[in-house]
Amino acid sequence: MLKPDQAKNRIEELSKELNEHNYRYYVLSEPVISDYDFDMKMKELGDLEAVFPQFSSPDSPTKRVGGEITKEFRQVKHEYPMMSLGNTYSKQEVVDFINRVKKVISGDVEFVCELKYDGVAIGLRYENGKLAMGVTRGDGEQGDDVTANIKTIRSVPLKLHGAGFPEKFEIRGEVMMTRDAFDKLNEAKIENGDQPFANPRNAASGSLKMQDSAEVSKRNLDCFLYHLNGENLPHNNHYDNIQECRRWGFKIPKFMAKCRTIDEIFEFINNWEHERRQLNFDIDGVVIKVNSYTQQQELGFTAKSPRWAIAYKYAAESASTRLLSIDYQVGRTGAVTPVANLEPVLLAGTTVKRASLHNADIIKKLDVRIGDTVFVEKGGEIIPKITGVDLNLRPANAIETVFIKNCPECETPLIRAEGEAAYYCPNDTGCPPQIKGKLEHFISRKAMDIEGLGEGTIVLLFDKDYLKKFSDLYELNRYKKELIGLEKVIIPDTYELPKVPLEKVIFAFRIGYNGLSLKNSNAIVKHFKSLANYSKATYTDLEEIIDFQGNKSISVERIREKIYEYLKNPFNQEYLKSFGSDFEREDGISLETIIRLLNIPGVTETDIKILIKNFDYIYLISKASVEELMKIGIELDISEKVNNFFKDKKVIDWISKLNTLSITSIQEKSRDNLLLSIENSKERAFHYVLYALGIRYVGETVAKKLAHEFGSIDRLMNTSFDDLLSVPDIGLSIANSVIDYFKNPLNRDEIGKLKKHGLKFEIEETLRSNQIADSVFNGKSFIVTGTLPTLSREEAKKMIEENGGRFVSSVSSKTDFLILGESPGSKLIKAQKLGVKIINETEFLNLIKNE
Ligand code: IVH
Repeated sequence: MLKPDQAKNRIEELSKELNEHNYRYYVLSEPVISDYDFDMKMKELGDLEAVFPQFSSPDSPTKRVGGEITKEFRQVKHEYPMMSLGNTYSKQEVVDFINRVKKVISGDVEFVCELKYDGVAIGLRYENGKLAMGVTRGDGEQGDDVTANIKTIRSVPLKLHGAGFPEKFEIRGEVMMTRDAFDKLNEAKIENGDQPFANPRNAASGSLKMQDSAEVSKRNLDCFLYHLNGENLPHNNHYDNIQECRRWGFKIPKFMAKCRTIDEIFEFINNWEHERRQLNFDIDGVVIKVNSYTQQQELGFTAKSPRWAIAYKYAAESASTRLLSIDYQVGRTGAVTPVANLEPVLLAGTTVKRASLHNADIIKKLDVRIGDTVFVEKGGEIIPKITGVDLNLRPANAIETVFIKNCPECETPLIRAEGEAAYYCPNDTGCPPQIKGKLEHFISRKAMDIEGLGEGTIVLLFDKDYLKKFSDLYELNRYKKELIGLEKVIIPDTYELPKVPLEKVIFAFRIGYNGLSLKNSNAIVKHFKSLANYSKATYTDLEEIIDFQGNKSISVERIREKIYEYLKNPFNQEYLKSFGSDFEREDGISLETIIRLLNIPGVTETDIKILIKNFDYIYLISKASVEELMKIGIELDISEKVNNFFKDKKVIDWISKLNTLSITSIQEKSRDNLLLSIENSKERAFHYVLYALGIRYVGETVAKKLAHEFGSIDRLMNTSFDDLLSVPDIGLSIANSVIDYFKNPLNRDEIGKLKKHGLKFEIEETLRSNQIADSVFNGKSFIVTGTLPTLSREEAKKMIEENGGRFVSSVSSKTDFLILGESPGSKLIKAQKLGVKIINETEFLNLIKNE
């Protein structure tokens, strides 16, 4: 045990070191120690601070993990009002701005061009080199004090580096979420059945407003700074001061330029209009500022914004096209969303066929009518949206759109709750998409954990009448024979035409060599990225990547030679080149290109247009009859040729290799796995079953609580409203929902059936006392690397599984913990890259003890 003064020194030493590593990692992106070493130092500091809290300072790096809960953010007045900027979408207005500035200022003017970061504005106050407060914009006069949340942002220095900073100053910037962090967060949200964020800005803003700073810490926010306010600043111009800020430890992106002429400014603007796609964060324009503070003062302010700066915003990408029809989609909660079917149009590099129409109010407000020419925009949102109607092009007979009154799936009259925009179908036990949604929830990992039943298979079994309710799952084994060979084309609920991955195209069409395996095709795409690069491969390249011999009668060398011969043949080169940039696409190959690749005799470009407009998948075209093809406008003789073409054995083989994307079918092995997994699910503990039932507001935690409190479904079913309310954390809406659920005889009947099938509707007494420990590992996945000090791998596995966790053998972004032992393997590096939490055996054992 350290003596107090030794502990004090060590705490200071570790804090300094860790602050430096944070800076190197999060600001400079140049880490010098491994994540593991970093975590170990952090742990040492945390342990010391726990024993010697008197030496723990508010700017200790351990504060980054949060912990403080803010019930309501305090309102703080800004010392310098937080003004906005004049902004424009017009290049002419940028020219006008520059000319205006030059007219007012007599001498030379230097401008600074910066990116306009698309995040949430923040002002950070520093006093004596330490972060004192972080305040949001609010109304510009006063904002919310979000200091506790700001402290969790690793790139915000809690203590400044170097020297020369004023005693007191404020620095402004934008709280951001990188695209990687955003994708990871949404992935997790979707997996938990939560609504994903529409874009990184909303995610950053939502995160910054959370009350629990420990949760904010997990969101991996970032913060870019761009404006300094204060007295006694080191330089008399913006650019040099901002560079200075970088030396003090702030994250200042390097993408800024000093410009003197209009041409230089436009070079910056135009360059970033394309280059912005390469960034790992979103920008929505460029900010142009006058550099000199003296000149800034000369120019002054309008009531709302400075006259020395302007923001040029990139136009959201938009296109206009015709509205063909409106579909109404019913989600799993019963909410009805209108979706526009559009004449396919190219927007931001992808073909858009559908767009969101939001809700009945928006349809009314925009007065959108079928046949209208509409504007489609793709902003930060995942789904393109309709933003307006070109009234000049409205057909004379266009009829006003009337929102449907009945559910398009089950005819039940729709309802609309007071104050809500969405219409709902209330038939939650009989409406197909709602039932399918419930089934998906029932089988999900955190519920009954039934594997082998993806969305596709559920739809397939549902449509063939094998699966309508939960209990049908446990009767599937009666139809063992019938299940084999069931197949269905699944049209995913996407808004764009699905693309076929490049490796599948190479594999299916055997580009390069007749017996090319999927494994080698994968290696080709990974290495060359595009077919254009692949066509330029040298023999050495091929030696490096083609190392798999799929077909035993040929050697791997011979495969390489054959590919090389193919690529060197000028005819093949010409052929590959003719597809141009279509083969550069990393997001997959379009249906249009696939049809061209097939080279169907007689098919013209016009026919291709008709085909892609009417079909989403090559599989569907291959199955179309001559009549169907004629109906959509293909000439008789061509229709016959197309139909014949797809009867060829070789072509059938190509299509079957391409279409795994669109077709779900059940084979013997997948059926057996599915039935086994269904059988195993009978062993799931009561609280999982309760959660799986999908009672409104009964999420994982509530299910666990109810299971623990009542012990069995019978007791829960027969409990009173008041008894439910007396359980800690059970409020009115949960209690109401539980009572309503069990009132419905259909639900009671279903529970009776599930009971007969042997599902657990009672807590096991031994488990009951272990419930809390159990909750630690629920749904969490663990991986072990290296030799653990005391536990064997088998023992660790057993402990993980006994506590409701999963033992996995390869690392992915979904892995929750890596338990690190002596002489770890490559899993460690992968886990570090993916940001998987790394723990040692002691920490693992502590988790079980729920410490
Ligand atoms: S300068 C007094 N620089 O965009 C001028 N603002 O639409 C302070 N923004 O209010 C602002 N990137 O929230 C500045 N490089 C940048 C920026 C930037 C994003 C935000 C900021 C501003 C808004 C104006």
